[in-house]
Amino acid sequence: MTKPGAGGGDLPDEVVAAVRRARRVLVLSGAGMSAESGVPTFRDAQTGWWSHVDPAALATAQAWREDPPYVWAWYAYRIGLLRAVEPHAGHRALADLGRVVDVTIATQNVDDLHERAGSAVAAHLHGSLTDLRCADCATPYLGAVDVPDEPVERLLPPTCGECGGDVRPGVVWFGELLPTEAVTATEAAIAALAPGDLCLVVGTSGIVYPAAGYPAAALAQGATVVEVNPVESDVSDMCHHVVRGTAGAVLPALVAARRR
Ligand code: OAD
Repeated sequence: MTKPGAGGGDLPDEVVAAVRRARRVLVLSGAGMSAESGVPTFRDAQTGWWSHVDPAALATAQAWREDPPYVWAWYAYRIGLLRAVEPHAGHRALADLGRVVDVTIATQNVDDLHERAGSAVAAHLHGSLTDLRCADCATPYLGAVDVPDEPVERLLPPTCGECGGDVRPGVVWFGELLPTEAVTATEAAIAALAPGDLCLVVGTSGIVYPAAGYPAAALAQGATVVEVNPVESDVSDMCHHVVRGTAGAVLPALVAARRR
């Protein structure tokens, strides 16, 4: 396993060779991918959401049933946060890479920063924050959403125009099934990998399944698996190479190195 320093400029030769050689690249991204845009991760100490809010109170169907305004207030704040941030150089580098080689992105992120940078995202495994729908009849909600500038305790969710039900965010809550099309697209992308192809595992703690199992599945296909993460994750050990740097530093360096 190769572990260079954090800058992104000193990539190991094996990693540069892997990115040059790959016909296909599968990117498995997690919350760390968006961190440098200003979107908090979930599990980073101090800054991660789960360090100061309780997942059981905000990310389960039961929490929603018990107190929709309490849950909605948090998601509305996150929608507002998302409107205020921009993709960073790492997102743009992946979009650039997608113009010269076959890149598939399967993300656990519920933001749209990959898309805004110019990438097509094959799978939003945990849904999309702004993909709103009625919690009762599932009708998509396309109306306006008022967002608070600062976190608030409670906020009434929008009302469904069809049935009058509460509108919920399009994220997957703990205990819910992942969107079938996202899982299917990810599995198809993994099945298409062949020896010599590349799997980039970017900014995930590798704790939440099934996403946490995908790097091993890519490895089993014979792909070269490279992690980009400033710290060790639960999937670091099974990766061929680990680049200890941030997505915003390492990915542009990786894509630039491919061109040289
Ligand atoms: P986590 O918050 O669990 O992990 C974020 C990872 O990103 C950590 O390993 C960090 O070291 C790494 N990281 C932080 N900053 C980074 C940077 N600038 N560049 C690269 N990596 C960086 O996030 P996920 O693994 O995505 O689920 O979490 C998985 C799921 O758990 C989320 O999708 C969410 C959460 O509960 C749902 O909302 C359903």
